[in-house]
Amino acid sequence: MEDVTDVSFRIIARRMGADAVYTEFISSEAIIRSIAKQLKKMTMLEEERPLAIQIYGGDPEVMHEAAQVSEAAGPDFLDINCGCWVKNVAGKGAGAGLLKDLPRMAKMTKAVVDAVKLPVTVKTRLGWDKEDINILEVAPMLEQAGAAALTIHCRTRSQGHSGEADWSWIPKIKQRVSIPVFLNGDVNSPEAADRAFRETGCDAVMIARAAISNPFIFRETKEFFANGTYTQASLDERITLCLQHLQHSIELRTEHRGIPNFRKYYLGYFKGIFGAATLRRELMSIESYAEVEDKLWKFADTVRQREGSALITAA
Ligand SMILES: Cc1cc2nc3c(=O)[nH]c(=O)nc-3n(C[C@H](O)[C@H](O)[C@H](O)COP(=O)(O)O)c2cc1C
Repeated sequence: MEDVTDVSFRIIARRMGADAVYTEFISSEAIIRSIAKQLKKMTMLEEERPLAIQIYGGDPEVMHEAAQVSEAAGPDFLDINCGCWVKNVAGKGAGAGLLKDLPRMAKMTKAVVDAVKLPVTVKTRLGWDKEDINILEVAPMLEQAGAAALTIHCRTRSQGHSGEADWSWIPKIKQRVSIPVFLNGDVNSPEAADRAFRETGCDAVMIARAAISNPFIFRETKEFFANGTYTQASLDERITLCLQHLQHSIELRTEHRGIPNFRKYYLGYFKGIFGAATLRRELMSIESYAEVEDKLWKFADTVRQREGSALITAA
């Protein structure tokens, strides 16, 4: 996810049990022009493997070259974004825009596959809009072009991120290809992940937004699969993980830039806890790691005191 899945976020996701992680999408044009800010998105650590670099673009030759640069950065596989719906990507014939030009989509996939030794996967959507759902044609075409697996965001381009994801396409896609098919869209709880596997026969689920709103979702899901139940993270666990994540964010960008950049993640760590809204408001203006750490552990003390007094009252 753009502006979300930097190396700090990916490490946390892997520590929590995600089986594979992906970089933010990176423009192929920017890669071949060596734009430093974009190349930095390829920063990776051993601990996060298996990791995919996701690239996008509309020109097969540029994508071919960008794939070679990306492979040299050392990921475990490459992923082509054929699903981005935003105007300045899809409107320029990249991302989901490729769903309107299937010969170019196939050519581009083949150009990337031919450029590298690594496996190449493709992430796409059901189609451009509900009148033009062409995934049953697209999926075998991408397999033919050499894709090693497909991730299907079960919405159309015109839906963006709204409306319900329609998982019912996954079994139909699976009947038409022999490569693995990963389901994406609305997998937002362990129960939803379980349902996705049971109802569709998908080979994996990809979790996006729910990992922001609950960084523990991967652990909870694994636990649910193993035991049929799961425990929610304690406040101490939330604080510890949040601080680890923040430390990695600072390592990536320095404290001065890392702390403001991190503010979007606080909500996910503390959502649902009494007092979290005030805590978050206060965290928004803090600019040093030491102060964040102090604020969080003091918050934990307050919560513990409140819980203690609640018990006394109840008795
Ligand atoms: C902030 C944000 C950034 C995203 N960036 C990317 C991206 O770079 N590449 C990509 O393939 N999808 C991107 N997506 C789409 C998600 O990967 C995913 O397909 C979509 O959110 C549906 O899955 P979900 O219901 O699990 O969130 C992004 C979504 C959001 C909310």
